[in-house]
Amino acid sequence: MQDLLKRIDDRIDECVEQLAEFVRIPSISAGADVDSSQALQEAADFLVGQFTRMNFAAQKIQVSADTNPLVIARSPGFSSARPTVMIYGHYDVQGVDNPRAAWTVDPFAAEQRDGYMIARGASDNKGPTFAHIKAVETMLQAGNRLPVDLLFVIEGEEECGSRALETFVQNGGLDEYAPFLCTVISDTSMYGPDRPSLTLGLRGISYFEVSVRGPKQDVHSGLFGGIVHNPNAVLVQALAGLYDTEGQIAVPGFYDGIEPLSAEEKRQYEALNASEQDYMQELGVSALRREAGYSLLEQRWTRPTLEINHLSGGSPRTVIPAIAQAAVSARLVPGQDPARVEALLQECISARIPKGVHVEFSHPHSSPAYYVDIDHPLVAPALSAIEQGFNCQALVTREGGSIPIVVDIAARTGAPVLLVGLGQITDNWHGPNERFALRDFHRGMRTSAALLHELGAMS
Ligand code: BES
Ligand code: ZN
Repeated sequence: MQDLLKRIDDRIDECVEQLAEFVRIPSISAGADVDSSQALQEAADFLVGQFTRMNFAAQKIQVSADTNPLVIARSPGFSSARPTVMIYGHYDVQGVDNPRAAWTVDPFAAEQRDGYMIARGASDNKGPTFAHIKAVETMLQAGNRLPVDLLFVIEGEEECGSRALETFVQNGGLDEYAPFLCTVISDTSMYGPDRPSLTLGLRGISYFEVSVRGPKQDVHSGLFGGIVHNPNAVLVQALAGLYDTEGQIAVPGFYDGIEPLSAEEKRQYEALNASEQDYMQELGVSALRREAGYSLLEQRWTRPTLEINHLSGGSPRTVIPAIAQAAVSARLVPGQDPARVEALLQECISARIPKGVHVEFSHPHSSPAYYVDIDHPLVAPALSAIEQGFNCQALVTREGGSIPIVVDIAARTGAPVLLVGLGQITDNWHGPNERFALRDFHRGMRTSAALLHELGAMS
C-alpha cells in the first residue's frame, strides 16, 4: 500500500494537468440558455478515452435521444463471480450565470491559484470523480491486479434530474454486473479542511411548484381591489399556514414516523462541537433558526425542513396580479415518505385557497432520505481508508443535501452506498468561483486507492 500511495504522490502534477483538461470542457446541463450538447458529448468521450487507455471496457450509452449519455466502464478481467464495487460520479456541471459577473476567472479555463483549481465543475463533481479514475489508473500502471472488480457509472444529468440513469437503473441496466459489494460516491463534502469524513446519510426531498390564479389578467387595484381575491395575498397566506409562529412546520402529520437517531450517532455529532458563531459568520446572519432538543449538526443533517425556494407575482405598481407562483421543497429524513409529504403539503395549501381562485401544482420531484447504519461492516474499512489517504482522523457525518439516484442505486444493487466526500462546503458549488483544493484531489486519489484495497480484503 505504501508503495502505491508513493506512486500517487509522484504523479500528482500529471493528474492535475489531466483534470484541467476535463474541467475545460463546458459540459453544462443545468441553468444555461446555451446549447451544451456538444460539450456534454465531448466530456463523455473524454472519459471513454481515459477508461479505454486503462483497458477498461468502456462505452457511452445513449438511453434516449433527449438525454445526455451515460459512461459505463468495466475493469479488465471483470468476473461475475466476484462482488462488484461501483463508482458513481457526474460529468455534467451547473451553468455559470449565477451570476456570471461574480466570477473573477474564466469558469472554464481551469485556472490554478493558491493551491486551488478554480472552475465550474472542479469540485462538483469532475475533480472528485477524476480522483477515483486516476487512483485506479495508478494501480494498473504499477502492474497490480485490481483488488476488486470495478464498474464506473458516470452520468451527465445529475444537475438536472438524472433521467437517463434512473431509466437505466430501473430497466435493470446494472443487473448484469451483480452481485455488488457497494457503491462509492464522492459527490458530498468533507466535514471541514483536514477533517475528512464518511457521510452516513443524505436527506431526501419533496419539491413542487404552486401557482395561484385569480383575475384573467393583471387589473387596477383601485378599480377592482376589494371585490376580487389577490393571488399574491392568497399564496402568501396559504404558504404561511404551513408554519407555526415559532417557525416549526405546522402541516399535520409532517413529522410523523421520523426514525430517531441512534445514541451512538447522536453522540458522534454532538462531539464535533459545531459552533453557532461559525455558522452565523459563514452565513452573515446574527442568529440561527434552532429547534429545541437537537444539537446544531443533528438539526442540519437529520431534521426535516420546509423551504419556500422561490416566490413571484405581480409588479411594484398598484395592480392585482393574475397569477402568483412559488417553489416549495421539503428536505426529508429517514421515516418520511416523499409521496405522503407531498400530499400533506398540497392539501394544507389547497385548504387555504378561497373560492374563485384556482390553485395548481406542477414540476414535482421527490426522493426519500438515505442512510447507512453506523454499525454496517463497511463503515470501519471506509474510515480506515480515509485515514490512510488523508493522514488524519476520519469522522462520520451526515449531510443535508440530496442525491436522489443514490436511493435507486442502493435499492437496485442491494448494496450500500459509501459517500466519501472530497469537496469542502466552501467550494462554491453552483455559485461563482467554484474551486477544488488540489490537496483534496491528491488525498482523494490516495483515499480511493486505500479504499479499494480495504474493500478487496472484505470481499
Ligand atoms: N452534490 C449535490 C448534493 C449535495 C448537496 C450533497 C449538499 C451534500 C450536501 C448535488 O449536486 C445537488 O445539488 N443535489 C440537489 C438535488 C435536488 C435538485 C433534487 C440538491 O440537494 O438540492
Ligand atoms: Zn451539484
